[in-house]
Amino acid sequence: MRSVETFRDLQSDATAWRRYLHQNPELDYRVHNTASFVTEKLASFGINHIEAGIAETGIVALIQGGGGDGPTIGLRADMDALPILETSNKPWSSKTPGMMHACGHDGHTAMLLGAAKYLAETRNFKGSVALIFQPAEEDGRGAQRMVQEGIMDRFGISRVFGMHNTPGMEVGKFGICHGPVLAALDEFDLVVKGRGGHAARPHETVDPFVIAAQIILGLQTLVSRNTDPLDSLVISVTKLNAGMAYNIIPGQAEISGTVRSLLPRLRDFAERQIAALAQGIAHGFGGDIEFKYRRLEPVTFNHAEETNLAINAARNLVGPASVNDKMRPRISSEDFAYMLEAKPGAIIYFGNGPTAALHNPAYDFNDEALPYGIGYWVSLVETVLAP
Ligand code: NI
Repeated sequence: MRSVETFRDLQSDATAWRRYLHQNPELDYRVHNTASFVTEKLASFGINHIEAGIAETGIVALIQGGGGDGPTIGLRADMDALPILETSNKPWSSKTPGMMHACGHDGHTAMLLGAAKYLAETRNFKGSVALIFQPAEEDGRGAQRMVQEGIMDRFGISRVFGMHNTPGMEVGKFGICHGPVLAALDEFDLVVKGRGGHAARPHETVDPFVIAAQIILGLQTLVSRNTDPLDSLVISVTKLNAGMAYNIIPGQAEISGTVRSLLPRLRDFAERQIAALAQGIAHGFGGDIEFKYRRLEPVTFNHAEETNLAINAARNLVGPASVNDKMRPRISSEDFAYMLEAKPGAIIYFGNGPTAALHNPAYDFNDEALPYGIGYWVSLVETVLAP
C-alpha cells in the first residue's frame, strides 16, 4: 500500500500550477500558453524526450523507468477550458472573461505534471511512461487527432489510462466500472418537406408542422416500445425551426436532436429507425424527409484487464473501501473513447468534493484532490510496470 501522504509534498507545487492554469484558460486547439507551460515544467523535471505540436498543441513526453526493459503505458490529461463566464469568485478566477476551466482540466494537467515530477525523480518502474497532454477534449476531437497522428505506434504505447474528476463524490474516493462507462454521442438533422400555402386553405398544402409534430412524438416511442427497458438509449429533440408568418403554412420544418447510447446495436438501431419512422410518417401525409446522422464520439469502453489494474492501483492508494468498482455508467461522453478504441485501457473517476457541477459557471477544481490524482498515477505506473 502506498499512502497518499507520500504525495502531500507535491501538493503546494501542484496547487500553484493548477491555479495558474485556472487563471489562464484557453480553448480547443488554441492551448498555446498552456502547452508551453507544460513543456517548460516537464523539461525542468529532467525529462528530455518531449514532443510538442501533436494535433496542433498536444504533447507526448517519455519517462524511462530505472527497472530495465518493459512496455510503455500512456497516461492522458486534457488541457482545454470552456467558453463560460466564471462566477466562482475565487482569487484565482479566470483572467479572460467568457472563458474558464469549468471541467477541471486545469486540475487534470496539474496532476499529470505532479506525477511526472515524482516519476522522473524516482523511476521505480520498468519500461516507460508516455505522458499525453491533449488539446480540444471539449470539442470532441483532440484525442482522435492525436491517435490519427500516430502517437500509439510512434511511442510504442501498449495500454492507455485516463482520469476525470467528479463533483459530488468525496475527495479521496474513486469510481470505475468494467465495459461501457460513458455513452456514444451522435447528432441528427431532419428536414421535413411539405408544400407551403395559405393558412386559410390547409387542404391545398402538405403541412410540415403536423408531420414534424407526429415525428417528434413518434421518436419518443422508439425507445419506450422498441428497446429493452434495461438497456440505455436517449433520443432528444433539441431544435425545431419552421415558419415566419401568421397566415402562411411553410414548405418545410427542420428538426434536430441528439442520441446517446451505451451499446453499438442501440446506436445502429437509432440511426436506422429514426430515418425509417420519420420517412414513414412523412410519406403517410404526402411529404418527404431529408435525413443526416453524424456519429460524433464512440462509447467509452473500459477493457477488462486494464480496469482491474486501475482498481488495484486505486486500492493500493486509498484502500478497498474507498474504491467503488461498480460505478454506474454515465450518459455523458468523453473523447478519451478514441484512445480506448486504439489501445486497451481504462478511465477512472475521482472525487472533487461538494463543488458546483461540471460545466457550471461556479465550478472550481478542488486542490485537496491533487495528491490523490498524483498518487493514483504513480500507483498505477508502479503496479503495471513493477520491476
Ligand atoms: Ni472534462
